[in-house]
Amino acid sequence: MTTPLLEVKNLAKVFKQDGFEINAVRDFSVSVKKGDCLAIVGESGSGKSTIANMILGVHPPTSGEIHFKGKPLSPRRRKNERRVLQLVQQNPYSSINPSRRIGATLKLPLKVHGIGSSQDRPGRVEELLAEVGLPASYARRAPSTLSGGQCQRVAIARALASQPELIVLDEPTSALDVLVQARVLILLQELQSKRDLTYIFITHDLAVVRNMADRVAVMRDGQLLELNPTGKIFENPDHNYTRSLISASPVITKKEIKLREKLKAGLVRER
Ligand SMILES: Nc1ncnc2c1ncn2[C@@H]1O[C@H](COP(=O)(O)OP(=O)(O)OP(=O)(O)O)[C@@H](O)[C@H]1O
Ligand SMILES: [Mg+2]
Repeated sequence: MTTPLLEVKNLAKVFKQDGFEINAVRDFSVSVKKGDCLAIVGESGSGKSTIANMILGVHPPTSGEIHFKGKPLSPRRRKNERRVLQLVQQNPYSSINPSRRIGATLKLPLKVHGIGSSQDRPGRVEELLAEVGLPASYARRAPSTLSGGQCQRVAIARALASQPELIVLDEPTSALDVLVQARVLILLQELQSKRDLTYIFITHDLAVVRNMADRVAVMRDGQLLELNPTGKIFENPDHNYTRSLISASPVITKKEIKLREKLKAGLVRER
């Protein structure tokens, strides 16, 4: 059996606030194969971002273990451990430094991780922009001059810059309107297969899950209720809670499916 890329065992996080303990995550275990997309779904406050933050080393777990390629990740992450695990967040305007031009934002991870020489870097920035569908001239622009979708593309390019193996996407399309959302999802799918990336995709949106994920972890109150392949989650979930999440999610219409197909075939141009 091949070693999973990421293995999380009995992960728990207790936050202490005003003398109270919050059990944000209790006993969460999952393993993710290279090239897979694991979705984590559940209502607000169910512990999804806390799991992401523990995987990324932002919050140390209260207990449990995180293994990457069969080896435990150190609590204070080494540089290379930080390089291979990247994050794309919900709001690109707050995750990207507003006072830095896009080119400087993309150069930073290249510098930090010693990727390419300083002469190479402008060319690498251009390649990264092209990979996310943005013209090279965007390197000179400030984040405030970009649309939400374009800014999220920059956030994706920044995550790609360090040549990661796993990207945690925490609600990456929730702040975007439906059309832009569809385009960003298609981009993420293309990048996943081109770069052989592994995704952990956190979302409220079950329609997104159906399009992106191989498996789905359903969270409620910090607990993993169900972990199953996407097909089973939608056709025959183990848990009534999962059923209620699905019945509350909007159905993708034929029109939307057609639009996605057109977008994929490049018939609709990005505005
Ligand atoms: N830094 C923190 N200090 C104290 N409590 C926290 C902290 N971060 C999260 N929590 C609490 O932990 C629980 C889980 O929060 P988390 O942000 O992981 O939920 P979520 O599923 O990502 O929600 P959402 O869908 O709204 O993003 C919540 O009760 C939250 O209030
Ligand atoms: Mg969250």
